[in-house]
Amino acid sequence: MKTQKPIALVTGASGDIGGAIAKELGANGWHVIGTYVGATDAAAATVAVINNAGGSAEAMQLDQRDPAAIDSLIANIASDYGRLDVLVNNAAWNIGIPFRRLDDLTADIWDRVMETNLRAPFLLARSAAKLLSADGGGHIVNISSAGGISPGSSSIAYSSSKAGLNHLTRCLAVAMSPDVAVNCIAPGLVENTRMAARLPDNVAEGARQTAVLGRVGEAEDIAKQTLAFVQSTSVTGQTLVIDGGMPGAMR
Ligand SMILES: NC(=O)c1ccc[n+]([C@@H]2O[C@H](COP(=O)([O-])OP(=O)(O)OC[C@H]3O[C@@H](n4cnc5c(N)ncnc54)[C@H](OP(=O)(O)O)[C@@H]3O)[C@@H](O)[C@H]2O)c1
Repeated sequence: MKTQKPIALVTGASGDIGGAIAKELGANGWHVIGTYVGATDAAAATVAVINNAGGSAEAMQLDQRDPAAIDSLIANIASDYGRLDVLVNNAAWNIGIPFRRLDDLTADIWDRVMETNLRAPFLLARSAAKLLSADGGGHIVNISSAGGISPGSSSIAYSSSKAGLNHLTRCLAVAMSPDVAVNCIAPGLVENTRMAARLPDNVAEGARQTAVLGRVGEAEDIAKQTLAFVQSTSVTGQTLVIDGGMPGAMR
């Protein structure tokens, strides 16, 4: 498919937040390539919303735990379009394991969380680096979590993976400068998402009660901040928390 539009790759576009980000970029002039791993119908629905609204988008399958699949996806984008302007590392996997249940956090679960949430964003950035750097104005936006700033969220593995993603953001901002700006959004609880529904009840309710603005985030809040980052030419290496203002995540 040929297009004159800049190209944005949004991982996890079949999910709640990835879908909102894809639609925001699609409505603002990007051709969106949205990935999914198994949810073909949800990815197709996101693509249909964008295309029906006059934008352009397509879905591509990617299991981002597989390094070869990442390289192959980026090679396909290079051959189809010859460019990539924005990479949004949004896809992630979690499972609710209360922090104190150390024995429930197996090596296999640890590896799945880390491979999906931390290693894949690095491998995607590495694979896409040449394309993103080509015209000197590339952007990466990583979607992390407030659980990567203060200990909390669905499991120790998830919280640690997101702390790693926050620091990967800073490392890549240095490594890919001056041609690519790399920033990060760390949502707290995001209402009406399936991932939030997988949080232990006390974690979700605690987030609502601690937010000083009296509300936590919604997927559209994350999408609008993603747009702001990719429209900026002077911000890099930053992690912005969107959580309704929880004192523990204020830095
Ligand atoms: N929702 C929240 O309250 C919340 C709070 C803080 C941070 N976040 C972060 O926001 C981001 C989006 O979350 P969400 O709520 O939209 O989650 P979601 O609805 O569960 O979506 C997760 C996405 O990741 C994809 N995915 C999972 N494993 C994958 C793999 N191995 N390879 C490729 N893709 C994979 C899923 O694909 P399929 O649909 O095909 O399975 C889906 O598109 C995540 O990084 C999450 O950590 C969310």
